Amino acid sequence: MITVTRIGKHIGAEISGVDLTQPLSDDTFAEIAKAFFDNEVVFFRNQKITPAQQVAFTKRFGILEQHVRKESRLPGFPEILVVSNLVDHYGNAIGAQDAGRFWHSDLSYKKEPSLLSALYAVEVPVKDGKVLGDTNFTSTTAAYDALPEAMKQRLQGLKNVHSYRYYRNKNALAQKEDAARGGRVVQEHALTEEQLKSVPDVEAPIVRTHPVTKRKGLFINEAHTSAIVGLPQAEGDVLRNEICQHIIKPEFQYRHSWQAGDLLLWDNCAALHKANFDYDLPQRRLMYRTTVRGSVAV
Ligand code: OGA
Ligand code: MN
Repeated sequence: MITVTRIGKHIGAEISGVDLTQPLSDDTFAEIAKAFFDNEVVFFRNQKITPAQQVAFTKRFGILEQHVRKESRLPGFPEILVVSNLVDHYGNAIGAQDAGRFWHSDLSYKKEPSLLSALYAVEVPVKDGKVLGDTNFTSTTAAYDALPEAMKQRLQGLKNVHSYRYYRNKNALAQKEDAARGGRVVQEHALTEEQLKSVPDVEAPIVRTHPVTKRKGLFINEAHTSAIVGLPQAEGDVLRNEICQHIIKPEFQYRHSWQAGDLLLWDNCAALHKANFDYDLPQRRLMYRTTVRGSVAV
């Protein structure tokens, strides 16, 4: 029997009574999947899983992606993206150092955007007894439900462009600004034109119907949305910013404070997330991400 404890008002629950190193029956997996889709973010504490076990567990939800950032994949495990501030003996980054600077959902810029991601905390930064590097999540379905009727009508049928190229440019600018302020310096591998071409811009509905729960949610975000289809750039930007501000109202959010051994899953069709970069070496942060492929947004 698993126990599901809801934490946030609209999003976030802890699942206990599960040991992910052990084989899970189809019934138990079905309970976990239901809890996941009901709560949009779920986590298991105190899991001592290997990369292979993380891959095997998350594969039960669907096909795993291999991230376009090849240099950030875990050696031997192409389906695991390393999210970390650690460097190897040569001083080279072992993973993505600033994943999640802006609110986003993972791989929203793909023709088949991700269904869900799972992040496993191997090492968590702690300073003066305080855990750093929390991740914020917000429910785009609760945000949609709370929109005034007139706005729901206005958004119905509108599409937005999700662009990895736009994100990379925006992120590079933010990295430069950080460095110029004397802040964090992020190691970044330039993507080849071939890598960029493998993720061309896509159009997706702003109001998206969840593939499993059929709930409506807002599929738009400040990291990847470069334009609103059919609107002049400036007007589209204003609308995007207005919706994005609405989505991140505190009442729709859940903030996760990590413990080593947490495996947390978020629904990329129903939630956005954002990292907090309030830590730096010598505080070490090491996370492993697996990402399940989803279906074309409709
Ligand atoms: C990610 C991500 C945020 C974090 O791994 O997809 O956005 O807090 N991470 O590490
Ligand atoms: Mn992310």
